[in-house]
Amino acid sequence: MIIGIVGGTGDIGEGMAMRLAPLFDIIVGSREQEKAQTSCECSIEALKKIGKECTLKGVSNQTAVDDSDIVILAIPFKHLSGTLETLHGFEDKIVVSPINPMEKRDFFVFVPPPEGSAALMVRKMLPESARVCLAFNTIAANKWRALTEELVYSVPVCGDDTAAKQKVMDVVNKVSKLQAFDAGPLAVSPLIESLTPLLLNIARYNRMKDVGIHFR
Ligand SMILES: NC(=O)c1ccc[n+]([C@@H]2O[C@H](COP(=O)([O-])OP(=O)(O)OC[C@H]3O[C@@H](n4cnc5c(N)ncnc54)[C@H](OP(=O)(O)O)[C@@H]3O)[C@@H](O)[C@H]2O)c1
Repeated sequence: MIIGIVGGTGDIGEGMAMRLAPLFDIIVGSREQEKAQTSCECSIEALKKIGKECTLKGVSNQTAVDDSDIVILAIPFKHLSGTLETLHGFEDKIVVSPINPMEKRDFFVFVPPPEGSAALMVRKMLPESARVCLAFNTIAANKWRALTEELVYSVPVCGDDTAAKQKVMDVVNKVSKLQAFDAGPLAVSPLIESLTPLLLNIARYNRMKDVGIHFR
């Protein structure tokens, strides 16, 4: 299974690439292929230091879509529509949105688009056959990057295509100690995306770092 990360050079994308590369074939996308290749070289070095061998390929965002079975959209919400407008070929792909539309005002606020969530906006922008799911919204980028630490978090996953959602949950469950939970259809996505501003407010007002969720 090949997983492509659009915007895979960013905070969360690069961290995800490092965690996923020892487990799956990962291709890292960028607007600039050279930037993606440099990011991959750094990630391979970081993984080597902890004794993990992997291959990681840096490509354009379009190639990351074309050559993968699962596409993770690791881009900021404000660049989501602009990025999707430049890309094509999502037909029949599993597309995963970890995107949280939010703003930092006096505190963190969930600011969804008219569709109700970033994932629902992705659903509207992509072809009907794209199998859109939401996952990974509530894990902080620096946790993905802390390669010697286990990721002990619950990961709510939602989507309308049951088989696609199961595949995404299978991916989640292979990473460190992450545990996937089926949260229902894509219509549930506003609830999940709004968890992140909540976690950030809790971290801020309680002087905590990298607050995550664990269902039990
Ligand atoms: N950071 C976190 O802790 C975290 C946690 C959970 C979920 N998320 C979600 O994950 C997504 C990515 O977050 P991030 O913190 O990784 O973002 P980021 O580092 O700010 O950006 C990710 C990538 O987006 C691309 N990008 C930047 N500006 C762009 C533009 N104008 N047009 C198109 N692409 C552009 C860049 O890739 P290239 O320059 O290589 O093209 C960049 O490396 C967000 O939607 C966020 O809500 C983040």
